[in-house]
Amino acid sequence: MALCNYSSPSISLFGTQILPPTVVKFTPFTIFCSSKPPKPAEDDDIKQKKKLSKQSSWEAKDSEGKDYLYRLGKEADNVNIAVGARSGVIDDLFAGNFLGRDSDIVFDYRQKVTRSFEYLQGDYYIAPVFMDKVVCHITKNYLAHLLNTKVPLILGIWGGKGQGKSFQTELIFQAMGIEPVIMSAGELESERAGEPGKLIRERYRTASQVVQNQGKMSCLMINDIDAGLGRFGNTQMTVNNQIVVGTLMNLADNPTRVSVGQDWRESDITNRVPIIVTGNDFSTIYAPLIRDGRMEKFYWQPNREDIVNIVHRMYEKDGISKDEVISIVDTFPNQALDFYGAVRSRTYDRSISKWVDDIGGIQSLGNKLLKRRKSDKLPVFTPPKQTLEALLESGYSLLKEQQMIMETKLSKEYMKNID
Ligand SMILES: Nc1ncnc2c1ncn2[C@@H]1O[C@H](COP(=O)(O)OP(=O)(O)OP(=O)(O)O)[C@@H](O)[C@H]1O
Ligand SMILES: [Mg+2]
Repeated sequence: MALCNYSSPSISLFGTQILPPTVVKFTPFTIFCSSKPPKPAEDDDIKQKKKLSKQSSWEAKDSEGKDYLYRLGKEADNVNIAVGARSGVIDDLFAGNFLGRDSDIVFDYRQKVTRSFEYLQGDYYIAPVFMDKVVCHITKNYLAHLLNTKVPLILGIWGGKGQGKSFQTELIFQAMGIEPVIMSAGELESERAGEPGKLIRERYRTASQVVQNQGKMSCLMINDIDAGLGRFGNTQMTVNNQIVVGTLMNLADNPTRVSVGQDWRESDITNRVPIIVTGNDFSTIYAPLIRDGRMEKFYWQPNREDIVNIVHRMYEKDGISKDEVISIVDTFPNQALDFYGAVRSRTYDRSISKWVDDIGGIQSLGNKLLKRRKSDKLPVFTPPKQTLEALLESGYSLLKEQQMIMETKLSKEYMKNID
């Protein structure tokens, strides 16, 4: 049975509905003579009238006579932040009476849901096979109108956890100067039916606007799609799941005509924008979505050479040689890329303990870290010297933690009486 989650029809998104011009008025008389106790909301209103100046935009009324704060509170799940700039909501002084009724007509264009990658500093190695696949997919899609062949809109990268699917894709975006719109599996579910599907279409159109308005290449990326859409065993499919799958299939079939509820115009053609999705197991996804015409699939599993090259670039700054990297990779085979990053970070642990001792132990940690004056300097933190031995040691300790989880299975211990 499908799990339905419908939205209440009485809640409307503010600003998208035209309100009837009924003005609700009340006088002090009705409040004091009423047999019912006065409503707190009305009380507040009177206080506000005394407190706020006439010019304050908080008091500006909409066509129903409700002020802005009231509406804001009433529609707490209203996520339309453009509301503040609308006429009837703020003073006409700001909304103006020319250039249309809304003062902020470029709002949609200024809003940034795109990502730039300033945090990716330094040198990284991208596996060539991976690079080829992603670059080829993006290029093919931008040339789709010139090519005499069918080009799938979606590229699905799948494979084991922590193997660098998301990370390397972002590195490639940065290298190619692409400004992508990124979504994650968490956004594929909502208490309001239809919301996630609409969000995907909106993000797709945003990516298309990046191409059109900024002259930059763009791309829609959905991370861990199988976590939001995949079905394991008897998991229920929600209305949202169905709509999201339907929306993606729809985009794959009609990449240039995308509705977000606007009136159609002949010229309303969306630019084709490639979609990249990542996940761990695509066999859990609805089969027609991943069929070949719609989705190009790429199984990513770095081989030993890829891993050595990536880890070498990671450890290079620490003065670890390639041979040492090889011996680390051989000591811990079958580990995800993630592991080798964690190994390096684990070697910091001892230096951090030493630093805590240096500043006077754990009791004074809070004071030293958060309450110190600007002039007080923290003791210098000296990062540990990376050596092969230290890296191997922290590798073993990570391995031990992994094995503990596999062997101990506390959940079974706690649930003994259940089976
Ligand atoms: N080319 C690389 N250079 C340096 N570090 C890398 C590289 N690729 C991956 N890593 C490291 O591995 C970590 C895990 O990578 P990433 O998050 O991309 O994995 P994933 O395949 O998307 O995993 P999941 O399926 O769990 O989402 C990254 O945070 C990064 O530290
Ligand atoms: Mg990922």
